[in-house]
Amino acid sequence: MEKKEIRNQVISLLKSLNGEQKEKQEEILMKTLFGTSEWKRANVIALTLAQKLELDTNKIIEKAWSEDKIVVIPRTKKDRKMDFVIYKKDTPIEVSSFGLREPARHLIAIQKSDIDLIIVPGVAFCETGFRIGFGGGYYDRFLTDYEGETVSLVLNEQQVEPFKVDSFDIPVNLLITTEKIIRKIK
Ligand SMILES: Nc1ncnc2c1ncn2[C@@H]1O[C@H](COP(=O)(O)OP(=O)(O)OP(=O)(O)O)[C@@H](O)[C@H]1O
Ligand SMILES: [Mg+2]
Repeated sequence: MEKKEIRNQVISLLKSLNGEQKEKQEEILMKTLFGTSEWKRANVIALTLAQKLELDTNKIIEKAWSEDKIVVIPRTKKDRKMDFVIYKKDTPIEVSSFGLREPARHLIAIQKSDIDLIIVPGVAFCETGFRIGFGGGYYDRFLTDYEGETVSLVLNEQQVEPFKVDSFDIPVNLLITTEKIIRKIK
């Protein structure tokens, strides 16, 4: 199956997932995340303000703040690039042309090398750590010269069989499913 077909299939599965089932899974995934050494060691954590369909990142943000970690969130730029800005309770948020909530344009971005751990979003994931995002290539571009840790939290509906990856696709180091943790051998 092509990436696009898998993406569409998983999106419709996610749309039909009821809130209670989703929350149950999210609870397991987050608990697992908070127990990893990657989480414990990270001071600066990058994640997105999720759309309704995606894993709800609000609880991760609250947990990070409660542990005095710094949360950074992405802002899309031209040429399908993005940068990250520190996110606090009073950070002004704008809605991008894609309908995503992003930090306001005037805020200053942090450096890529300052990020310890990126919670990489996506639509579908396979056990090798390869992922299918929303098709913009934003994360594939950003991760090319990123040297920190990457992790994805995978709902059962998002687990797929290995698919044909492209040369520019970049897998995450750590995959968390409701059943297990899969670490990429470095
Ligand atoms: N490093 C890169 N440099 C230039 N173009 C890239 C790079 N990585 C990906 N692309 C382009 O991005 C497009 C989308 O790629 P892909 O379908 O893998 O997106 P995705 O992984 O679903 O998206 P995302 O990374 O935003 O989650 C491709 O057409 C590809 O040509
Ligand atoms: Mg890709």
